[in-house]
Amino acid sequence: MNRMIRLTVNGESREVEVPTYRTLLDCLRYDLGLTGSKEGCGVGVCGACTVLLDGKMVSSCIALAVFADGRDVTTVEGLAEDERLHPVQQAFMDFGGFQCGICTPGQVVAAKALLDETPHPGDAEIREWMLGNLCRCTGYYKILESVRAAAERSRA
Ligand code: FES
Ligand code: FES
Repeated sequence: MNRMIRLTVNGESREVEVPTYRTLLDCLRYDLGLTGSKEGCGVGVCGACTVLLDGKMVSSCIALAVFADGRDVTTVEGLAEDERLHPVQQAFMDFGGFQCGICTPGQVVAAKALLDETPHPGDAEIREWMLGNLCRCTGYYKILESVRAAAERSRA
């Protein structure tokens, strides 16, 4: 069964007809053309598909698109403003917070959510918050450095 849903994605109002079993991740990637969010595990474990739903982190691979009806979705594509990278994106660039990049959109969205909620996190808070975002490449230290740098720059 299909259903028409209306949602705001990265500040833009979108309307799309989806099967009721369609995941939010597939809706974003295949119906709306927003391929920034990645599918890693597909079962809610790795964090590669992390997006914000009304400002809160969700694993879009296990959220149904119909669940986002009438709500605000923010994906990694929505973080830069006027072609200026979000401070978290810039810090990931500057501090080598990624290698293959598959986990990066989820890491960046999760880090943004952390700084929205806790602008001055300590290393332990960063580590704990980012626990749900797995990375096979970086060894995590550069991700930690990137998030820490983004927080410090926002403070400055
Ligand atoms: Fe969604 Fe891994 S792809 S949590
Ligand atoms: Fe490759 Fe994180 S940079 S999985």
